[in-house]
Amino acid sequence: MDIQTVVILDFGSQYTQLIARRTREQNVFSVVLPCTASLAEIQSYRPIGIILSGGPSSVYDPDAPPADPALLALGVPVLGICYGLQFIVHHLGGRVRSAPKREYGHAEVMVEHGDSALFANLPATLHVWMSHGDEALELPAGFQRIASSDNALAGIENPERRIWAVQFHPEVHHTPLGPQLLQNFLFAICGARGDWTPAHFIETTVAAIRERVGNGHVICGLSGGVDSSVAAMLVHKAIGPQLTCVFVNNGVLRKHEFQSVQKNLRDKLGLNIVAVNASARFLEKLAGVSDPELKRKRIGQEFIAVFEDEAHRIAQQTGGPGAKLEWLVQGTLYPDVIESSSVKGPSQTIKSHHNVGGLPELMKLKLIEPLRDLFKDEVRRIGRDMGMPEEILSRQPFPGPGLAVRILGEVTPERVALLQEADEIVVAEIKAAGLYKEIWQSFAVLLPVMSVGVMGDQRTYAYTAAVRAVYSEDGMTADWAPLPYELMKRISNRIVNEVRGINRVVYDITSKPPGTIEWE
Ligand code: XMP
Repeated sequence: MDIQTVVILDFGSQYTQLIARRTREQNVFSVVLPCTASLAEIQSYRPIGIILSGGPSSVYDPDAPPADPALLALGVPVLGICYGLQFIVHHLGGRVRSAPKREYGHAEVMVEHGDSALFANLPATLHVWMSHGDEALELPAGFQRIASSDNALAGIENPERRIWAVQFHPEVHHTPLGPQLLQNFLFAICGARGDWTPAHFIETTVAAIRERVGNGHVICGLSGGVDSSVAAMLVHKAIGPQLTCVFVNNGVLRKHEFQSVQKNLRDKLGLNIVAVNASARFLEKLAGVSDPELKRKRIGQEFIAVFEDEAHRIAQQTGGPGAKLEWLVQGTLYPDVIESSSVKGPSQTIKSHHNVGGLPELMKLKLIEPLRDLFKDEVRRIGRDMGMPEEILSRQPFPGPGLAVRILGEVTPERVALLQEADEIVVAEIKAAGLYKEIWQSFAVLLPVMSVGVMGDQRTYAYTAAVRAVYSEDGMTADWAPLPYELMKRISNRIVNEVRGINRVVYDITSKPPGTIEWE
């Protein structure tokens, strides 16, 4: 039996991929199409439902994103969200106007029609997230209002025509009962079976990679983090030995990381990994550099140089003299994708953020980004389904420039060694306290600040370590974590006792903003 599909039409909302994520959370498969998709393309998926996303435009804008209004007459259940609601009202003969009072942010919505299938099992008052300047003034014939906020109409339906719409955003985190509303639409209205699983994603992604790459050779820059490891694993499943992963020791990895990544990914999972210990090269380039931006630049440049050398060598090995590699795997996730999918048509392609700046253009490599529609927790779920070790999947994010941005001032081999020791203690204690997974990042920072201490009967004069632990959803904002005092005490005691060269430990109580997570 074919897997059931929901089509999400994107009108340019920053939240469109969140809708897709919400459907996957309920084990319902969805595809996001640009709103310009033809009726034939939409129908080719034989959708059980269509969701119209929000969008920044007004239906009266001369360049309002176009979609074929005939999709409203297919008889397939439709859910309009925000702009989607206005699109429905406008095209079925109602009236939309610029609202006298715009609504942005938290709002309360009263459900007026308790029998509506869309609001089944929901309370009479809902906390929701609004973000609109226009509002529906007159409803098209046959529609009725099913919910409203203080300022505006918040929900409409025409069950005979199989159309429902809400003015608020049920897909965002700020609408706590949004998942229930979407569940009502998917299961009660569209008749979803919930037959999508991560295994389905893995199967279709692997098949697509296999077809795209053919017998070409693929290279992947492995960082040891979740994203690049899961991306590499998917490609490995697709083309096995045609993939070579390059894992570079840039001299500022965490203690034992160079070995443990190889152990986990090569020994346990069978990835073909070329591990390059370029530590000395990187540290040489970092000597005498204190400026944070210059550090990043030097590390980035050196990484590209090392990677190009390796790619060249691998190409000669696999394809003979003069051969060039064609493909590069990147673990780009949806939050890395800056611009959302095309609103004005398929020609306006998605731009993405690349961790390895400039590499694909420089080496003329075509990109394979199997995770670009997914969010971090989904990537972990996919990785788990492929049997990847929890040590990799639940690893906290670690920046590309590594410990270099956690050593303030010059990076020297001695300072790297000191920070590796302190960092290992912080991570071990946070894990032992059972907090590692719920905390976004927890680490030590080495400050080039010397202070006086006393150990035994001896005076010490040594460095300071700052401990940082933050809660975050996506790294964009963060709150410092109020770690239990006992835990802080253990971390401090262990660092001062075990790391010769650090005699003082402080705790960073700065949130982001105004601080950043990394100190540099
Ligand atoms: P900041 O320090 O800007 O960091 O609050 C936000 C998140 O991004 C990570 N980060 C980086 N990741 N290369 C990376 O791959 C970098 O240059 C980089 N700088 C910061 C940081 O660890 C946090 O999760």
